[in-house]
Amino acid sequence: MTQPSDRTDRSTATSSGSGDRSVRLAVVYYSSTGTVTELARAVADAAEEAGAEVRLRKAAELAPQAAVESNPAWAENARATAGIAEATPDDMVWADAVIFGSPTRYGNIASQLKQFIDTLGGLWQQGRLADKVYSGFTASATKHGGQETTLLALYTTIHHFGGIVVTPGYTDPSKFADGNPYGTSHVGGPETPLDDEARTAAGVQARRVVKFTRALKAGLSGAG
Ligand SMILES: Cc1cc2nc3c(=O)[nH]c(=O)nc-3n(C[C@H](O)[C@H](O)[C@H](O)COP(=O)(O)O)c2cc1C
Repeated sequence: MTQPSDRTDRSTATSSGSGDRSVRLAVVYYSSTGTVTELARAVADAAEEAGAEVRLRKAAELAPQAAVESNPAWAENARATAGIAEATPDDMVWADAVIFGSPTRYGNIASQLKQFIDTLGGLWQQGRLADKVYSGFTASATKHGGQETTLLALYTTIHHFGGIVVTPGYTDPSKFADGNPYGTSHVGGPETPLDDEARTAAGVQARRVVKFTRALKAGLSGAG
């Protein structure tokens, strides 16, 4: 079923006063069994509430259909997200800010998201991925299963883009409870739905990314 957050381009951006206050934000994620899909929807919804124009995009599946169908949660997530468009390089050009999401895979991002990132070489060489704000979110099956390393691995790539990494840090009291300053994260697979802690973290992160993207755009336009 297509849900409200299967958005294509639903603009709620505002423009007032001096400087450009609009923020175009792409949430680009990969999820097999739906946990990161839930996080992606939470981040996209919060960014939209913060005034951004949001594109929610999934990385294309690389696994054989037989592998997807062999896992009920994977097959269900594929069906449930059929209405979400696949990410394209144009989404990266369009965006002022990109929040990437991936499950932890051996402490790193999933190959499906990496494959999308690897299609961006031409844009990277032209400097067209630079000067944007980036952030990330993840999920793992176990508590010390590599959430931080996954996000740091993602952020290594952002440095090569010339991107500006905006993380939540411990900038909100809730961060002292969820304990992940690198980005929103959730421990659990398909049997462990998102909890309030993860949803709160998604909101903190999305609002912070929108705020600093807006400030960066306004500052750069003022700088001439
Ligand atoms: C190939 C593979 C590698 C994984 N590696 C780890 C890992 O190193 N640590 C961990 O805690 N979970 C690991 N997981 C579990 C996923 O990170 C976890 O189930 C995540 O919540 C799945 O997100 P999704 O439901 O969006 O696909 C792995 C799963 C797969 C399929």
